[in-house]
Amino acid sequence: MFNIDHIRSQFPALKQKVHGNDLVYLDSAATTLKPLSVIERITKFYSYETANVHRGAHYLSDMATNEFEKSRDVIRQLIGANSIEEIIFTKGTTESINLVAQSYGENFLHEGDEIVLTELEHHADIVPWQILAQKKKCVLKFIKISANGEFDLDSVNEKINLRTKIVAFSGCSNILGTFAPVQIIIQKAKAVGAITLLDAAQYISQVKIDVQALDVDFLVFSSHKLFGPYGFGVLYGKKSLLEKMPPYQTGGSMISSVEEICSTYNHLPFKFEAGTPHIEGAIGTLSAIEFFNQLDLPLVIAHEQKLMQTLQAELKVMGGIRLIGEAAHKAAIVSFVVEGAHHSDVGQILDQQGIAVRVGHHCTQPLLKKLGLTGTVRASISIYNNQSDIEKLVDGVKKAKRMLL
Ligand code: ALA
Repeated sequence: MFNIDHIRSQFPALKQKVHGNDLVYLDSAATTLKPLSVIERITKFYSYETANVHRGAHYLSDMATNEFEKSRDVIRQLIGANSIEEIIFTKGTTESINLVAQSYGENFLHEGDEIVLTELEHHADIVPWQILAQKKKCVLKFIKISANGEFDLDSVNEKINLRTKIVAFSGCSNILGTFAPVQIIIQKAKAVGAITLLDAAQYISQVKIDVQALDVDFLVFSSHKLFGPYGFGVLYGKKSLLEKMPPYQTGGSMISSVEEICSTYNHLPFKFEAGTPHIEGAIGTLSAIEFFNQLDLPLVIAHEQKLMQTLQAELKVMGGIRLIGEAAHKAAIVSFVVEGAHHSDVGQILDQQGIAVRVGHHCTQPLLKKLGLTGTVRASISIYNNQSDIEKLVDGVKKAKRMLL
């Protein structure tokens, strides 16, 4: 059963006022709020358990190492990976993609090879591939997205061909909410021998992922969009690929032995984890996943979808609003433009009413350019939003229209 009041009671941020109003937090695609259990877990680590991992021969270090590695195993279970050797800890989605582009891409791609992305990618899934393409003289191709945010399946078939070596795509768009046809894309890539990278930054909170069933080669996500801490994320990679990839960063921890002139590298996953890691990031993520696992995901998604449908319907009735992205299968992310008003001005007026949304290009400038826009207002809904949040946003947009037009 899904009890919205019980859920909300676990998020301290929702108990505050912003500019004299109860906070209405509709920016969860940027980052989710943190439940008390995660906040308390990280505080406990800093208060009583601080120690480095994999190093010390003392009680606290052993305890920190146990929790750190427990996190790796809970993440493994969350995404259905076969082995903890396939779970690399990173700073987040962006670093995970850079790791693959640099370590795999620079070593296994050649001149003329094609890298296929989609038109709705976040900059984090564009720029690392641009750099790789420039270095290796590869070709970038983009699967087309229609004006209302749907995937063009003909374009999937056309862009992925025998020259394709990597297909990197987002499972869920951070600006339009569109769900990608994940299995279709992976199967098509497999059929031509290309490897696949699934950007699950937004997707991870929406579906039960099983990397083995999907047969995806790499999967990346960040903890902070899954109720966890900042600066911590995951790269899942198939062991057979990770084993042949060289280290991404070098230093302590990622070695097996060091001599003055050369070194040998540690085994997986540590080969990719140079330096003291983000220990409280891993431990906080463990707590966040325990929180997430207690949720009844289908009920949560039904709740979010209902709020999204209400919001979209209300914005349509209001008039003078252009909804950006109305794919049939989409997450509860609503991007819109108030005709005749600048998105930043709308965002500012909403902020004055305690309503947090994101405005701007949402790190998706190529998509916005294609849609003839420079930015949108984006309301992104999560488990703790309620009907009242939607009503306040609708009233807030009406007020913005009255003030600006
Ligand atoms: N990628 C995050 C967003 O969409 C930051 O807002």
